[in-house]
Amino acid sequence: MSKQVFFIFILLFSFTNIAANDNPKWGSTGHRAIGVIAEKHLTKKAKKQINKLLQGQSLAFVSTYGDDIKSDSRYAKFYTWHYVNFPFNSKYENSDKNPKGDIVTGINTCISILKDKNTSQEDQIFYLKFLVHLIGDLHQPLHVGRGEDKGGNDIQVRWHNKGTNLHRVWDSNMIESWNMGYTELAKNAKKLNKPQIQSIQKGTVLDWTYESQKLAIQVYKSAEIGEKLGYKYSYKHFGTVRSQLQKSGIRLAKILNDIYG
Ligand code: ADE
Ligand code: ZN
Ligand code: ZN
Repeated sequence: MSKQVFFIFILLFSFTNIAANDNPKWGSTGHRAIGVIAEKHLTKKAKKQINKLLQGQSLAFVSTYGDDIKSDSRYAKFYTWHYVNFPFNSKYENSDKNPKGDIVTGINTCISILKDKNTSQEDQIFYLKFLVHLIGDLHQPLHVGRGEDKGGNDIQVRWHNKGTNLHRVWDSNMIESWNMGYTELAKNAKKLNKPQIQSIQKGTVLDWTYESQKLAIQVYKSAEIGEKLGYKYSYKHFGTVRSQLQKSGIRLAKILNDIYG
């Protein structure tokens, strides 16, 4: 291989790596598990209407849409909708808002557009798919993390001896290492009775935001910069991941039942 060709290879390889690392999300497995769990809690009427709108595509299938459009510049105005950052010692209501919007205003916008009878079919589909995604993101604690480190994206750590960052550990590394498909993850969710489900469905989008932020405070304490994380970390924190995925699915169903039920 000539020197030039080798150089081009290295260049291409590093660009693809940068692109892959710069796309923060609950991995597709997490989002899809949330979709499967939500479907189990939909009313018949909601299920029917959603099925018609999405032309048979499952909530699991559409759940990653919000991230799929991130690389398309036509959707740039939605980028900040995936997260919110506000100081841990203050209330969302009293803190400076991102003028481009955040996950709280994003979710509420989706809900009001979907409730509006005059919304076009095209917009109904778009905002439904986006809502499914955002309710997932809201339950990843670091989507309500600190602005200074971009919700942990700037905190480099090692995962089973590979470079990653704390945000990614919570978006996808832990889930992928667990080695369960999204259907299995959903099937193995904790068995809950009706009062437990109703208790999870209580509250507002803002309450769930504070709940995530409280978890984020613990997540920041869980690892140091450069720390080598692996089995021990999963053993300690995967329970939180599973419980957040389950809460997210159950709450997504509640919101969809309110809109369509
Ligand atoms: N993803 C990109 N920027 C982020 C931020 N500031 N907080 C959380 N998640 C993010
Ligand atoms: Zn993320
Ligand atoms: Zn997202």
